Amino acid sequence: MSELITNIGELMTQNLEVGTVHNAAVVLDGERIAWIGDGAKAPAADTVTDAGGRALLPGWVDSHSHLIFAGDRTAEFEARMAGESYSAGGIAVSMNATRAASDYELTRLALGRAAEALSQGTTYLETKTGYGLDVENEARSARIAASMADEVTYLGAHLVPAGSDPEDYTDLVCGQMLRAVRPYVKWADVFCETGAFTPAQSRRVLQACADAGLGLRVHGNQLGRGAGVALAVEFGAASVDHVNYLSDDDVALLAGSWSAWDGGAGTRGTVATVLPACDLSTRQPLAPARRLLDAGVQLAIASNCNPGTSYTSSMAYCVTTAVLQMHLSVQEAVRAATWGGALALGRETGVDLDGRRAVGSIAVGHRADLHMLNAPSATHLAYRPGIPLTHAVWRAGLRER
Ligand code: NIG
Repeated sequence: MSELITNIGELMTQNLEVGTVHNAAVVLDGERIAWIGDGAKAPAADTVTDAGGRALLPGWVDSHSHLIFAGDRTAEFEARMAGESYSAGGIAVSMNATRAASDYELTRLALGRAAEALSQGTTYLETKTGYGLDVENEARSARIAASMADEVTYLGAHLVPAGSDPEDYTDLVCGQMLRAVRPYVKWADVFCETGAFTPAQSRRVLQACADAGLGLRVHGNQLGRGAGVALAVEFGAASVDHVNYLSDDDVALLAGSWSAWDGGAGTRGTVATVLPACDLSTRQPLAPARRLLDAGVQLAIASNCNPGTSYTSSMAYCVTTAVLQMHLSVQEAVRAATWGGALALGRETGVDLDGRRAVGSIAVGHRADLHMLNAPSATHLAYRPGIPLTHAVWRAGLRER
């Protein structure tokens, strides 16, 4: 079944070569994008959708979320708005509620969050474990995540549970817990921060997970300067996320990690993933996205949807914030929230081992993940902040909204 989308006001392909095309049309054939070009030259298709001059973007690629949790942390949020600062300790509140939830309840909650994201244009989603924090509950979280997300990350190294010895717990994360989650996950992550995992413990986690064949990511430099970025680059992590507090050396390391990249699937560096909604909700200084881009670092924008620091799955809100407050152009912000997220997940080109097509840009052969705005251009995301602009969403060629 093919579908022609015609009369597109502004087509943001997010390809490396092509940015924005006007008066364009796109043809979908099953799950793939089959044709892109001048609307006047579009081939025939089984069905025709008139975009009515609206803008068409790739679906958002949310490369950092924590959707597998139960419970509520409104009180912690209220305390923060009243002046308290964020600390990793609140993770334990979600851990207790998550452990107490049934499989059914945990799955229902996660699916609801994923559906909320999809309805706002998120067509490719990563999510993490990290609120189980024992062997049984991390494995259960990983299994549930694998049933509902596109990419799953093991985050047993999120917090040392109260009463556990930090070194013994790190051993568990690197051993029995890793073996239990391994069938369900592709990535591993560590929260390298004061109050979470030390650089030495983080190094142990990254090494064990790399040895187990997992791709790596790091929560780094969120609450202060630290070793997160340096460790991520040293281990060839696909991304380091948060990056609020960066030294000149950190920025140089990240930029240097991309120096041998040719734009293809070969040697790649460490993507810096900024999480604007989290920065606002925790009242941290905004991550220096402008400085990173200017230094030549590849950037992703993600929601970090989680109950503690960023309880939103709205990628549009993150893009709006990146434009209005992080000083990115609309093109740069949309690109970081689509193609950048795909790059952070190694999914921006080619076909993966499971036969899945590339995501995050509108290109022939890529998966037909599309987001149509009820606006003539993506500029409206920043120009009309807070207005729900999602008009239509296609995921793998299927109209979801
Ligand atoms: O990415 N920083 C660590 N993890 C989450 C927050 C976890 C929580 O507080 O529940 C984050 O912000």
